[in-house]
Amino acid sequence: MATDRMDRKEFLSLLGLGAAALTCSYFLAGCSPNSSNLITAPPTNVDFTLDLTDPANSALKNNGGYLYKNGVIVARTAAGSYVAVSMTCTHAGGTVYYDTNGNEFHCPVHGSNFATNGSVINGPAASPLMKYNTSLSGTSLRVYS
Ligand code: FES
Repeated sequence: MATDRMDRKEFLSLLGLGAAALTCSYFLAGCSPNSSNLITAPPTNVDFTLDLTDPANSALKNNGGYLYKNGVIVARTAAGSYVAVSMTCTHAGGTVYYDTNGNEFHCPVHGSNFATNGSVINGPAASPLMKYNTSLSGTSLRVYS
């Protein structure tokens, strides 16, 4: 027979759901634009080498290609040079990609654009992407802080 009374187990279960909902709403509120506390910090002490003959790195064989590694986006620009910046948008943590047409990094989340040196072209992002050095030696591309 059904009863209107809630037993202890049901009560605690509902309490848990309520707490989870409150926690989620707190974090969603914290994810508002320019809230930097949830954005992954750009990688530091970056130093890796990409073998451009490796099929895993084939995206970098053509101008406009790009790939992600260790929190960094490495791109071969429309003009054929290699550039590297942090892959996480400084606005609210979106993942940027290289846009050949504008020769810039674009964040699809809210539309920020960054120059190939990481500087902000247009917001809402207010801070630049971390830029890393690139050095090509034969078919080895070194990316480093
Ligand atoms: S996360 Fe908002 S523009 Fe990138």
